[in-house]
Amino acid sequence: MGRDVFYITTPIYYPNADPHIGHGYTSVAADFIARYHRLRGEEVFHLTGTDEHGLKLQRAAEAAGMEPQQWVDEMEPRWREVWARLEIANDDYIRTTEPRHRHAVQRLLTAVHDNGRDDIYLGTYEGLYCVSCELYYTEDELVAGLCPIHERPVERVSQENYFFRLSAYADRLLEHYEREPSRVEPETRRNEVLSLIQGGLLDFSISRTNFDWGIPLPWDPKHVCYVWFDALTNYITAAGYGSDEERFAGVWPANVHMIAKDILRQHAIYWPAMLMAADIEPPDQVWAHGYLTVGGKKMSKTNLTAIHPFELIDHFGVDSYRYYFVREIQFGQDGNFSWESMVERHNADLANGLGNLASRILAMLGSSFDGLVPQASGQEEDLPAVIQEAVRRYDEHMSAVALTQALADVWEVVGRANRYLVEKAPWTLAKEPSRRDELAAILYASAETLRILAVLIRPIMPGAAQRLWEQLGIGAPLAGQWLPDAARWGGLQPGTKTSKGEALFPRLES
Ligand code: MSP
Repeated sequence: MGRDVFYITTPIYYPNADPHIGHGYTSVAADFIARYHRLRGEEVFHLTGTDEHGLKLQRAAEAAGMEPQQWVDEMEPRWREVWARLEIANDDYIRTTEPRHRHAVQRLLTAVHDNGRDDIYLGTYEGLYCVSCELYYTEDELVAGLCPIHERPVERVSQENYFFRLSAYADRLLEHYEREPSRVEPETRRNEVLSLIQGGLLDFSISRTNFDWGIPLPWDPKHVCYVWFDALTNYITAAGYGSDEERFAGVWPANVHMIAKDILRQHAIYWPAMLMAADIEPPDQVWAHGYLTVGGKKMSKTNLTAIHPFELIDHFGVDSYRYYFVREIQFGQDGNFSWESMVERHNADLANGLGNLASRILAMLGSSFDGLVPQASGQEEDLPAVIQEAVRRYDEHMSAVALTQALADVWEVVGRANRYLVEKAPWTLAKEPSRRDELAAILYASAETLRILAVLIRPIMPGAAQRLWEQLGIGAPLAGQWLPDAARWGGLQPGTKTSKGEALFPRLES
């Protein structure tokens, strides 16, 4: 088992589409998880990329009067730009038009084709095809005769192509999921997968001859590999399959494929079966979150509800953006985006919550101790226990991908610390010289709480964590802090020179 590395992926995105915040949702969630594992000192491999082949791409290129390669070369950097501004710290970026991917796909196809069980065979396909999904539908999957996702007409298509014998894998898939239920999360999605398998699996088509923008089948190059054998394989290409077997053994299987629920069937049924057919271990877990909706419908360009991430980042800042989506929408369920709720969250949790906490503590340190963290003589009882418990729950929730709860755990500390200040009222103590020891103990505990908060928020808000760290004036770099040690009480050195800088989060007008 590849257990040297915590390997997490996002879907690879269609480069010709316009990025919107629904896409960014998956990537921020995956990045939060990846950064959390790095914070625990684990080696992490976080992969994203672009899915660049297929009929839709070829048609888009033709419409633009370009060669497909030129077209994807032009489109793809827009996605990298989005990930860079969202501060997604992916370790690799894969494009399915790269030679390493062609090798891996051809190798996987060959392995399945030659596995001695006739798992790839030539047949005739007739079906109802949605060009936008690149999927065939059965009559009863259509809604009012239209594609259930795009609500557009489907085409009746008949052609000779190769099939993958998915139907032979139902028992193995069932056993795979029954033995280890956490392989599909959340539970609703697992049940969906199980009932799809129990309902009977149909072989699916893996090649096309009606277009050529794709990877040729090694044994019959008139055919190009069609969508899922090409796209899903990116996850093993980047892990070294077909190019670096030693690395592949260390990285694969992936710990988490983070996806949205529309591509669940392909990830939780097609993909493990394809791997089983090639004698490769399936991924540990497929985690399928819900949709970002607008007015109850999936946010999408087709629904005319797409919002580009930059529109929000420019207004709210990237930290607030990353925080909002994970905190506001119960991770796993569908959730509605609204500008108003984003302003509300920003002001309540960030500006008034964490931001205000930091500025009160740093201001008090400045006015009473020239900014120097005081020596605390007595042991403060309340906050260390609150933090210890919150950190325990945060770890538990992060390991279980309960991302929304993990943030709630951290904000529990923010709330308690703000209340602590109100109860202890250090500003009145500051006027009584005889109670200076008491004041020192309160401010030490408060500043120490800020230090631990900076460590805990780093995976979701790396920029804000760094700014807070700098205001605390701690000499050791934030990047060198690891869990669990960095969350242990007492790490802040007395004498550390703090400074009240600019507000961590400016308040926004509603
Ligand atoms: N290229 C395929 C995935 C191949 S993975 C081997 C694809 N690309 S996509 O660009 O159309 O979508 C990428 C991901 O973004 C999908 O998981 C899709 O569900 C997700 N989202 C697109 N709109 C979304 C929302 N409104 N809400 C949540 N996720 C959404 O599919």
